[in-house]
Amino acid sequence: SITRHYQFDIQMKNVTRLCQTKSIVTVNGQFPGPKIVAREGDRVVVRVINHVPYNISLHWHGVRQLFSAWADGPAYITQCPIQSGQSYVYKFTIVGQRGTLWWHAHISWLRATVYGPIVILPKLGIPYPFAKPYKEIPVIFGEWWKADTEAIISQALQTGGGPNVSDAYTINGLPGLLYNCSAKDTFKLKVKPGKTYLLRIINAALNDELFFSIANHSLEIVEVDAVYVKPFTTKALLITPGQTTNVLLTTHAQYPGANFFMEARPYVTGQGTFDNTTVAGILEYENPNSFYSSSFNKNLPLFKPTLPVFNDTSFASNFTNKLRSLANTQYPANVPQTVDRQFFFTIGLGTNPCPKNQTCQGPNGTKFAATVNNVSFVLPKEALLQSHFSGKSNGVYASNFPIIPLMPFNYTGTPPNNTFVTNGTKVLVIPFNTSVELVLQDTSILGAESHPLHLHGFNFFAVGQGFGNYNPAKDPAKFNLVDPVERNTIGVPPGGWVAIRFLADNPGVWFMHCHLEVHTSWGLKMAWLVLDGNLPNQKLPPPPSDLPKC
Ligand code: C2O
Repeated sequence: SITRHYQFDIQMKNVTRLCQTKSIVTVNGQFPGPKIVAREGDRVVVRVINHVPYNISLHWHGVRQLFSAWADGPAYITQCPIQSGQSYVYKFTIVGQRGTLWWHAHISWLRATVYGPIVILPKLGIPYPFAKPYKEIPVIFGEWWKADTEAIISQALQTGGGPNVSDAYTINGLPGLLYNCSAKDTFKLKVKPGKTYLLRIINAALNDELFFSIANHSLEIVEVDAVYVKPFTTKALLITPGQTTNVLLTTHAQYPGANFFMEARPYVTGQGTFDNTTVAGILEYENPNSFYSSSFNKNLPLFKPTLPVFNDTSFASNFTNKLRSLANTQYPANVPQTVDRQFFFTIGLGTNPCPKNQTCQGPNGTKFAATVNNVSFVLPKEALLQSHFSGKSNGVYASNFPIIPLMPFNYTGTPPNNTFVTNGTKVLVIPFNTSVELVLQDTSILGAESHPLHLHGFNFFAVGQGFGNYNPAKDPAKFNLVDPVERNTIGVPPGGWVAIRFLADNPGVWFMHCHLEVHTSWGLKMAWLVLDGNLPNQKLPPPPSDLPKC
């Protein structure tokens, strides 16, 4: 294994999309940002230098950060942000992971433009558990706003209403020809016939889960969140913000006399407005001969894919149910078979009272809030991990994250009149190596919504899921402890639940939150504090000397 060095200069850059130019925050002037490539076992060192007038921090989404919590990146959780003119060097080793992950800004809404792929190749000499692809291509979904996204979120937080929805979805930063002024900003995937391509698909959109499909081609799912899965073939896939999915695309054996669209558009189950547009790219067979004199031949027929309708929850749950770990000798599924602690988290939307002399846009003049166990998480002014490490947690966080008992309650019934939430910075403390089972229940108090929950610092196994209220007397009997999918981000079904298990073998403070940025902003987030173990190799090392200060 080797060390891979990167320098990320955070810079402003003028970018034109949808006929309008705006100045965006980028890494090295690139949008989307540069690709990080490493092999399993490699050390990755990224020097981040902040040249913009915003605070920044970067997160390596899905990288386990074993004993390297200082490099995880969420602002005010594991570090203070890197201030304008300052720098910080993220250092971590890729342990036991190979596949596609990604990196993104983890402060305010800057991840709207600050993101890029992480490609982790298997160790030298270790093949994929599928035929070697002819080429590998990142396919990153994003969301584009004509307005400044920092202004949009601060406005939404002030008025307590929903933020403006995006103006376009993008593939690798490009909205595609279905949008105005965007024909030249169309992602084209040039392919040869009879070859297999590995698409490394990433959903970097802020607020929308997406369906994706390519006309007249099938997709073979082989990996999610940098874990191989039992391969299966599908016409369309679902990917939530935060998730990654590797698919094999095998092109037709002969040059087909047609052009093929690939499209992504949202899966939405909640109320309210959303960006109901479609991003299209073109799968373009490279010119085989003079007959196909120009690529994307306008004279050829055009095939468009069929995507599920925007609220197709049965497609979503069927698709998710097909995802299974390989669970073989080479790639075992180390599902915790016994559990030390069981937790039950309700997640969903609630409200805060509107401050006096203010008009709020939430339900009945309230302010929207989002919660875990009815606590809307408030980001502290100091970083939690530093406070914990230096023993100065007083005034920064409280260790009384509410434990709610598993008891029968109708979480999908009529909302109570009072949906007010409590606000606080509360962490849940667990000892090193605790085997955790966590049931995430969507409360549907203000409408049933699918929430993509992301856990930092761990992969977890999704051992069960269902609609309605979790039933502790019946549901555990149906858990899959053999080959459940292992991942870092999971869609909690609308008005339903998922059960996950993980071993807390990584000391540090680990953020857990909805990866819909609007819900994170409203407080649908919490933090686990995993204590050091007793042995010398079970302790979090001290912070690097250049760790930013608040
Ligand atoms: Cu991809 Cu805490 O996020």
